[in-house]
Amino acid sequence: MTDQVAPKNPAVPSLESRKAKPKGEVLLSVKELEAVFETGDGVVHAVDGISFDVHRGEIFAIVGESGSGKSVSAMTVMGLLPTIKIRSGEILWKGTNLLDLDENAMRKIRGREISMIFQDPLTALNPVHTVGRQVAEMARIHEDISKKDAMKRAIETLDLVGIPEPQKRADMHPHEYSGGMRQRAMIAMAIMCKPDLLIADEPTTALDVTVQAQVLDVLVDIKDEIDSGIILITHDLGVVAGLADQMMVMYAGNQVEFGTVDDIFYETAHPYTEGLLNSIPDLVGDHSKPLVPIKGSPPSLINRPSGCAFHPRCTYARVPGVCADTEPKLRDEGNGHLSACHFTSVDWKPQ
Ligand SMILES: Nc1ncnc2c1ncn2[C@@H]1O[C@H](COP(=O)(O)OP(=O)(O)OP(=O)(O)O)[C@@H](O)[C@H]1O
Ligand code: SF4
Ligand SMILES: [Mg+2]
Repeated sequence: MTDQVAPKNPAVPSLESRKAKPKGEVLLSVKELEAVFETGDGVVHAVDGISFDVHRGEIFAIVGESGSGKSVSAMTVMGLLPTIKIRSGEILWKGTNLLDLDENAMRKIRGREISMIFQDPLTALNPVHTVGRQVAEMARIHEDISKKDAMKRAIETLDLVGIPEPQKRADMHPHEYSGGMRQRAMIAMAIMCKPDLLIADEPTTALDVTVQAQVLDVLVDIKDEIDSGIILITHDLGVVAGLADQMMVMYAGNQVEFGTVDDIFYETAHPYTEGLLNSIPDLVGDHSKPLVPIKGSPPSLINRPSGCAFHPRCTYARVPGVCADTEPKLRDEGNGHLSACHFTSVDWKPQ
């Protein structure tokens, strides 16, 4: 580890103020997961050898450009992709490999122990039933509970996620809710059974900035209230900086960087991550910093570039015969901070 350097993104609180919290137990441990879609056009390498742990009490963020495999990774954990082919790896949930479970066993875990909050509540909520009924239904599926008690708990849960007049609003239909309220209702559905892990896939993308912040606050409060872990998938590095504990950066189905938010923002180890950070404005501090988008676009996951998949876009791919020819493996930069680049940051960062 090097001495503290100026942060890439000053939105991240200082290292001093982000003292490492003691970690809770490991809930989820994904090991060397490789999963593909076999399509008419070829094999889509959507998830290629990713590994990470999620602990109770932590927010684990997955970031990367569109099509990098973030949602497929999460949906594979949930067992929600019928056409995916798992080529290798394990998804250990409290020690049990979810890949060994049949659909019946998965259904018992889904919604009760692990639940998902989707980006678009309008497609996830049923327009013909009241919100209260849909939230109550989550408890009815997994628990031996009367309709009346389930509805009582649904109203309490709507209250918990900050829906005003929950008694009255429980009787309303999704179209009578605002976007932010619908997302809160989705969160209420997801937490009815107090799951140990919440997976939130771009939970606030469709909302305006103020409402985004409110919904994210609700998520964090809920995590503490029910003592769960969260996997947060987002394009928004500002959100990651402010909320997450650990993070994984994905590129073209690969895990290119993994570590604590501090390590990744302050001691960026992978050129792709640096590119992501350079392409967003600093949220505080130097607003005049020029934004530098990453040149080019993400590759097809059917015909990925040889060697390091990032090499056609990488500013530092200057060593002939290395970047374009050999696939880099994840390497520990120190303290479990992993980077899949042939070079350490000392080699590629301009000094
Ligand atoms: N059912 C499917 N069949 C074939 N390919 C798929 C399927 N679902 C996803 N893919 C492909 O897998 C790759 C990873 O997709 P994924 O949805 O995980 O991306 P993402 O990182 O979540 O992107 P975004 O930020 O746009 O949500 C993409 O190339 C996508 O086209
Ligand atoms: S291995 Fe080469 S191309 Fe890939 S990120 Fe590192 S320097 Fe860039
Ligand atoms: Mg996605």
